[in-house]
Amino acid sequence: MAIKRGTTGTKNIQSVKKTTPSSNPRQPSRTLESPPNHQERLLDPTTKDSDDSNGQNIRPHRLKDYIGQETLKSVLKIGIKAALGRKDPLDHLLLYGPPGLGKTTMSLILAEEMGVNCKITAAPALERPRDITGILVNLKPGDVLFIDEIHRLNRLTEELLYPAMEDYRLDITIGKGQASRTRSIPLPKFTLVGATTKVGSLTSPLRDRFGLIERLRFYEPEELALIIERTAKILEVAITQPGAMEIARRSRGTPRIANRLLRRVRDYQVVHKHQSITEEVAAESLDFYQVDPRGLDWTDRMILETMINNFNGGPVGLESIAASTGEDAKTIEDVYEPYLLQIGFLHRTHRGRMVTEMAREHLLEADLNE
Ligand code: ADE
Repeated sequence: MAIKRGTTGTKNIQSVKKTTPSSNPRQPSRTLESPPNHQERLLDPTTKDSDDSNGQNIRPHRLKDYIGQETLKSVLKIGIKAALGRKDPLDHLLLYGPPGLGKTTMSLILAEEMGVNCKITAAPALERPRDITGILVNLKPGDVLFIDEIHRLNRLTEELLYPAMEDYRLDITIGKGQASRTRSIPLPKFTLVGATTKVGSLTSPLRDRFGLIERLRFYEPEELALIIERTAKILEVAITQPGAMEIARRSRGTPRIANRLLRRVRDYQVVHKHQSITEEVAAESLDFYQVDPRGLDWTDRMILETMINNFNGGPVGLESIAASTGEDAKTIEDVYEPYLLQIGFLHRTHRGRMVTEMAREHLLEADLNE
């Protein structure tokens, strides 16, 4: 381990192995071995797994089965009840928040609760105007259209959506130049559910056309444990409540990661012939996969340690962290940083990122247990 013991509580920590910056500034100047190559996928909230393992769909289908996000659920329950009463579709809904928290699942549930179909697409698949027009003209009354990564829509597609959202109308231009004409095609009433991890990147005309704008937050370990127990039941995996809690604590507040870790722990349990996933089996297994007790992986720890060793814990700019860790700045910002900020291991100040005391204590503890 690369940070000095017994120095928590001091502001300007110095490193023991303050390795001289390598001649290649993109190489991490540190002493950990290489990351195991399965890691990236294991804790990456953006990688979508098949949730239909062996035909057992683990997604909840109704609101009553959806665990957590209580505020969001209560807002949606009212919206659904009112819309059903009026025999109208639900208002357009924008869901934002970190990846893996259940935006697609929630959209599928909304359609189910409203008794309509849900069409799922993503902004990168809507490159040409005819991509979105093709979808819109094929919607049935009341349908839910889910567009993932909606902040990535191109301008033309976005402009086609404005009248579609506002007046259920498609304005298409036929012909080119002076001979061009605009035709309006009526569309059935529908609900657009937009999902984004970057609500600040949406243009205001698009954002303003959503009647409901709701955030999904990271889950508490207790909620994740319930999700893990529910999935284990569907997958017919024997697990104890403390076993589920142990996986939950290491799941970065994210159901997608929790369910993925459960599958890996199940493999470990089967191979080692344990009867069920107890707290000990879960801990032993996740240690084996190098997911630490707070859900940090090799790269998280490497980023924190590099900040401590090379920059005294910060404040340090994102580009400098990227240069000395060899990780791409955008990947640090989008993939690693959100969870480290969430659990209070990193702070963002106007002068750069800072490692917190809590993170230092955690790294030392992990070091002592190694
Ligand atoms: N599986 C994934 N997310 C879930 C949730 N929020 N509730 C129940 N099961 C889930």
